[in-house]
Amino acid sequence: MNHETFNSREEYIRTLFGHENVAQKSARASLAGAHDGISIHAEEARMLQLLIRLAGVKKIVEIGTLGGYSALSMAAALPEDGHIWTLEKDPARAKLAKENTQNDTRITIVEGDAVQTLSSLAAEAPFDMAFIDADKLNYTHYLDWAEQHVRKGGLIIGDNTFLFDAVWMQERPPRVRDTALQAMRDFNKRLSNPEKYLGIMLPTAEGMTIALKLF
Ligand SMILES: C[S@@+](CC[C@H](N)C(=O)[O-])C[C@H]1O[C@@H](n2cnc3c(N)ncnc32)[C@H](O)[C@@H]1O
Repeated sequence: MNHETFNSREEYIRTLFGHENVAQKSARASLAGAHDGISIHAEEARMLQLLIRLAGVKKIVEIGTLGGYSALSMAAALPEDGHIWTLEKDPARAKLAKENTQNDTRITIVEGDAVQTLSSLAAEAPFDMAFIDADKLNYTHYLDWAEQHVRKGGLIIGDNTFLFDAVWMQERPPRVRDTALQAMRDFNKRLSNPEKYLGIMLPTAEGMTIALKLF
């Protein structure tokens, strides 16, 4: 499929299914410019909402907040007593996310490097879902954590898991670091293990790996 066909198909799906509430629209608008296009797309947000409802998710850990668009999207599918802890390393982004999510008490922004701050969330475990959307190098580290803190029957989801299409290339593209490529291949391979997960990779623009935890 060429690029044009893919874009038209994505646009068609987004037009039909990419419904956004006021908070989502406002968060997306706040990211226009420098951060344009980094957040998940509206139709991906819709898919996460569907998965949250299907799996009866109440407690979510998100790694990689940016301006809070995905957190607000997931919150829209949570019950009143649900909660999202979302981790962001960059202080300016954490500040923006706090502003964008201030009307939703079910969202807590945890500022700092997730490699360190994840340990502060252990007391809230078990979680029903982990959404990993941050530094690629640490995806396997985040998966180690999620395997310990997400309940059996919960969801582990990683975004950008095609790693700019590098995961299936014979030769690593120069923009992708070897360590990140290794980490992403390991991440996808682990979630593909049918003994441990009911998983799949979806061919979104950047790739999304979705797995139901069986242990
Ligand atoms: C792709 S963006 C997240 C987009 C967001 N999930 C959305 O869809 O609206 C990735 C974010 O992860 C953050 N990040 C990268 N490494 C991190 C780390 N070690 N700990 C916490 N956040 C990190 C970046 O600063 C960036 O804001």
